[in-house]
Amino acid sequence: MIPRFLFVSTLALGLVLLIGINCQNPTHWSPVCPYECICIWGASFDPKVYNGTYMNCSFRRRGPFPVGEVPEDTVILDLSFNDMEEIPTGAFDKILHLQGVWLLGNQLSETKVSQGVFDPLKHLEIIDLSLNNFTRIPHDLPETIKRCNFDTNKITHLSSTDLHRYPLLETLQLSNNNITYIPVGFFAKQTVLSVLHISSNPLASMGIPNGVFKDAISLTTLELISDKLTGIPSGLPETLQTLDLSTNNIYHLYPGDFAGHSRLERLELSSNEISVLDIGVFSSLINLKSMGLAYNQLRYLSDGMFDGLVSLESIFLNGNNIEIISDNVFVPLRNLATIDLGSNNLKTLQYEVYYNPPFKNLTSLFILSNPWNCDCRLRWLRALVDLKPYLLFLPELVKCVQPPYLQNLTWGILFPEDFVC
Ligand SMILES: *[C@@H]1O[C@H](CO)[C@@H](O)[C@H](O)[C@H]1NC(C)=O
Ligand SMILES: *[C@@H]1O[C@H](CO)[C@@H](O)[C@H](O)[C@H]1NC(C)=O
Ligand SMILES: *[C@@H]1O[C@H](CO)[C@@H](O)[C@H](O)[C@H]1NC(C)=O
Ligand SMILES: *[C@@H]1O[C@H](CO)[C@@H](O)[C@H](O)[C@H]1NC(C)=O
Ligand SMILES: *[C@@H]1O[C@H](CO)[C@@H](O)[C@H](O)[C@H]1NC(C)=O
Ligand SMILES: *[C@@H]1O[C@H](CO)[C@@H](O)[C@H](O)[C@H]1NC(C)=O
Repeated sequence: MIPRFLFVSTLALGLVLLIGINCQNPTHWSPVCPYECICIWGASFDPKVYNGTYMNCSFRRRGPFPVGEVPEDTVILDLSFNDMEEIPTGAFDKILHLQGVWLLGNQLSETKVSQGVFDPLKHLEIIDLSLNNFTRIPHDLPETIKRCNFDTNKITHLSSTDLHRYPLLETLQLSNNNITYIPVGFFAKQTVLSVLHISSNPLASMGIPNGVFKDAISLTTLELISDKLTGIPSGLPETLQTLDLSTNNIYHLYPGDFAGHSRLERLELSSNEISVLDIGVFSSLINLKSMGLAYNQLRYLSDGMFDGLVSLESIFLNGNNIEIISDNVFVPLRNLATIDLGSNNLKTLQYEVYYNPPFKNLTSLFILSNPWNCDCRLRWLRALVDLKPYLLFLPELVKCVQPPYLQNLTWGILFPEDFVC
């Protein structure tokens, strides 16, 4: 968020800046920067980017909150990884311009943050409380917060009113906690929330009641990775553009699961247990560009499964158990450029799959780690390697398993003429 070149300040440079600024511009007087910290006085930078002092004591202090030592015009304060156990009363009373505070990697919890300590902060927009010991979301953060990070705490219980004080929240991160249930009403005031991450929680499908997202009418990115979902949660907002449900236990997709999701551009369902795709299950996803179905349990791809995916540019089907691909399954995907079929159980691929669109327009095709039967039926694919050298990923490493006399030989040393029946 702060450009990298701003970090170059050393103690010496900090002092030079401090003295320099003090001489040139006495109205920007500030107390001395604590020696463990880096302070950059805003006056020396473009005020549109950076209006006030930036103070970064990350990994440096190993001690209590530096009450009274923070310059009064500080707008950005980083006190992360300092083993801080509490935020004492009055900590922010003199730093009223604070816009962002980074408190990650301490040992804070709701009982160690004194009541009302954030009250003086009328401009705070960013607060990072990840990697602490919170067991619930505090109710007395400033109403002005827009980005809030609670990743890696010990939050077990969410109450329906937890976020009611924060109607301006745009990004909320609650990953790596112990959340099993999101109560209805939890997002009742979250009409501008656009990014939500609740990954790595023991959150099952039952824990996301229908209607819980009813008021989250601006949500565009939802990540529920490595939870305990067994199906697509119902009632997800139709505003979603990115939905990541990878590494769950989803085993079946039902028709209607994605109804209304015409704005979705990226759908990630990798590392689930999906074995069957019903015909037309994705038919509403007319703007989807990328689909991740890798590491599931698909055994065959049949016509109609991908109907409606007219904008799809990449599809990842690697790491399944696919044996059979029907001739026309990819026909609706007229913008497809990338397809990954690696690590499946494919012995052959019909010429028709390729000569139907959209295969002719592919720019990358991954087929490594399949038990290819290198007979005359697959000759066309080996010939294609010579025709379009860019198309296949590492063709010289593709191996034959059948017929026995070609076993373990790679396509790098075989010619199309070797593929015979
Ligand atoms: C920068 O901050 C000063 C004092 O806090 C204020 O007077 C000025 O308008 C601000 N400038 C911008 C561009 O926000
Ligand atoms: C503070 O400095 C650390 C490196 O020491 C950096 O990783 C971090 O992003 C900085 N904090 C902010 C808010 O810029
Ligand atoms: C915070 O949690 C860590 C890890 O569970 C624990 O070791 C530490 O004692 C806790 N700190 C406080 C202040 O409760
Ligand atoms: C997570 O919550 C459950 C109750 O829902 C509790 O039994 C368990 O101890 C919690 N685990 C941790 C690591 O806090
Ligand atoms: C496929 O590519 C060719 C040229 O490379 C282009 O003319 C044609 O329109 C493309 N077809 C589709 C369906 O995008
Ligand atoms: C091919 O490789 C497999 C596994 O490495 C081996 O078991 C098999 O004997 C090899 N076959 C031939 C014909 O070399």
